[in-house]
Amino acid sequence: MPKILRRERLVPNIHVLEVEAPEVAAKAQAGQFVMVMPDERGERIPLTIADWDRKAGSVTVVFMMVGTTSHKLAGLKAGDEIPVFVGPLGKPAEVGSYGSVLCAGGCFGIAAIHPIARAMKEAGNKVTVLIDVKASYLLYWEDKLRKVSDRFLVSARDPHFSSKEYVPHKVRSLLDGPDKPGRVVAIGCTYLMSSVSEATRAAGVRTMVALNPIMVDGTGMCGACRCTVGGKPKFACVDGPEFDGHAVDWGEVFFRRKSYVEDEMKSLCVWERGRLGPESVEEVPQGV
Ligand SMILES: Cc1cc2nc3c(=O)[nH]c(=O)nc-3n(C[C@H](O)[C@H](O)[C@H](O)COP(=O)(O)OP(=O)(O)OC[C@H]3O[C@@H](n4cnc5c(N)ncnc54)[C@H](O)[C@@H]3O)c2cc1C
Ligand code: FES
Repeated sequence: MPKILRRERLVPNIHVLEVEAPEVAAKAQAGQFVMVMPDERGERIPLTIADWDRKAGSVTVVFMMVGTTSHKLAGLKAGDEIPVFVGPLGKPAEVGSYGSVLCAGGCFGIAAIHPIARAMKEAGNKVTVLIDVKASYLLYWEDKLRKVSDRFLVSARDPHFSSKEYVPHKVRSLLDGPDKPGRVVAIGCTYLMSSVSEATRAAGVRTMVALNPIMVDGTGMCGACRCTVGGKPKFACVDGPEFDGHAVDWGEVFFRRKSYVEDEMKSLCVWERGRLGPESVEEVPQGV
């Protein structure tokens, strides 16, 4: 079974997980993802490949703690084994020669944008990385991102940083600036990706986003990740996850991502009770 080489907390709610997975490392490309299962009774969840080392045979993912599975992953330590770490899945990100490229990322997308920025730089583009964080203590991987970019910008609601603009505002001002990007890529929460897409629509700059619908098998068999792009049904796991943000039906993405919220809350409460004892969570929410 794949062995954990490293699991560390990067910032309060985000962890890095490095796994011994030589077959995944050998084939990984920017924009692809893996399906991960923390234990034999657990759920498979998709996580973007944030880095890899082909020589060492290791693959790195970065995840945000949101529900049961990500909490279980955060409890793993070096030396533990996990039953499932399958990939690389999905199509690689579109990488070409665009002159100037803007790569925007927030929350787990700060790490997920890293291989795309690196590939864009290797393709000869001038790369600007624009990171969204609510506060300075939520910023991670600054060194890694500076290495793969020509310009590193942070948009934060924090006095520590000069720019207080939310990412879409910053994107608009960069589009009006002297070094207008010929391509924009955004990864992070659905809100960040949809609002960056809106910010670039009028300027007509092609904007790629990595959609994050609920996935079950990750191989095009179950239909869980169905989304509509350009008026056509697509499966994010095999047709994406990268799509043209101007063509995505964002309302559907937001709606479908919430399909199991009540069950997810119940699952987390039950799991926390099991882990910490019955007093830890007063009541499992009623009616869920
Ligand atoms: C292609 C892809 C790449 C992703 N990459 C990353 C990443 O690199 N880092 C990261 O932190 N997150 C990533 N996500 C989101 C991540 O898969 C979810 O946060 C995770 O599944 C939540 O599981 P949970 O049990 O911890 O939380 P839950 O309580 O089960 O769910 C919390 C929320 O996460 C979403 N979610 C739940 N289950 C799934 C699922 N099986 N597939 C997709 N979304 C789900 C739902 O919107 C849900 O409301 C990615 C999603 C996709 C589709
Ligand atoms: S996750 Fe099953 S079809 Fe995409």
